[in-house]
Amino acid sequence: MYNSKITGLGYYVPDNIVTNADLTKMMDTSDEWIQERTGIQERRWIVEGSEDTSSVMGAKASRIAIERAGLTKDDIDFIIFATLSPDYYFPGGGVQLQEMLDLKTVGALDVRNQCSGFVYSLSVADQFIKTGMYKNILVVGAEFHSGGLDKTDRGRGVTVIFGDGAGAAILSRCEDNNKGILSSHLFSEGKHAQELTVISPSIKHWVPAILAANDESDESYFPYMNGTFVFKHAVVRFSEAIVAGLQANSLQASDINMLIPHQANLRISQFVQKKFGLRDDQVYNNIMKYGNTTAASIIIALSEAWEKGKIKDNDIVVLAAFGSGFTWGSVIIRW
Ligand code: COA
Repeated sequence: MYNSKITGLGYYVPDNIVTNADLTKMMDTSDEWIQERTGIQERRWIVEGSEDTSSVMGAKASRIAIERAGLTKDDIDFIIFATLSPDYYFPGGGVQLQEMLDLKTVGALDVRNQCSGFVYSLSVADQFIKTGMYKNILVVGAEFHSGGLDKTDRGRGVTVIFGDGAGAAILSRCEDNNKGILSSHLFSEGKHAQELTVISPSIKHWVPAILAANDESDESYFPYMNGTFVFKHAVVRFSEAIVAGLQANSLQASDINMLIPHQANLRISQFVQKKFGLRDDQVYNNIMKYGNTTAASIIIALSEAWEKGKIKDNDIVVLAAFGSGFTWGSVIIRW
């Protein structure tokens, strides 16, 4: 059995900054409301006519990660791509990355676990490396949310939260059994699927039927979120996922050098920080700048924290996520 470790990180966000003040021109909201409830000050939204899509942004982040890992495109053995906003309904975005990056005809797997997408993807990649099947796996999370949000008063409870962006990590074989991914912990509870969802288009509600109904009040193709319900479950499940990871490795909360929570809401991160008694320098948040970028959020935050020198050799790094499904999980890493 081998261990796996992250050898390269990269992220890409569109240039276009959308502030809370900008949102007030589109819908009935305020900077005060958004900051008080979510901590978000601004987010990046792709501008109309841009070449950027989830796959294009994923490819941009991937090029940086591959270079930082000291690899070339031909060293990549497998692709895992997490997104809820793929360029096509099918095929998935993984094959687009293979083409855009001009990789060998390696396997490409798409992961649909929304905000937990990166944690699930990393866990899957870790298993492939542990068994010796692959040496270097490209793991990408990317979201193009802004194209699918309801930017009217009707959508304000959801739209103000989400941002666009992409992150990529290279997971590589590591001969040192005390380093790299120590364990991962994955959970789901499908009975809450409808609390955070986009219903259409789906086989039950397919495009011709939507068009035929010509119903302007149909909101089923915009994201729906029962915010308060999601918030209550998030704080519990984030904590459970972290405890599962700590217990599995006989660690205490005080052993955590860096917690990178999925950037769902700054209030959720602060709740978790307080619960585990962590100092500000033990938790990394950047939702203030980017909003919630779903499958990309942890990897963007991890890349940024690493670039700022906040993650050092031998640090215990905890990644934790919760989101639509509901799904949640954690990954414990010794850097
Ligand atoms: N601007 C101004 N007012 C808004 C608003 C906005 N963008 N969105 C909603 N409101 C209003 C509501 O209409 C409601 O008004 P009312 O009291 O007159 O009915 C009021 O603000 C409170 O709405 P509510 O939804 O109860 O607010 P909240 O305190 O639960 O905060 C969230 C809303 C979305 C910020 C919060 O529930 C949350 O963060 N949930 C978790 C989100 C999350 O993590 N999602 C991703 C999971 S991965």
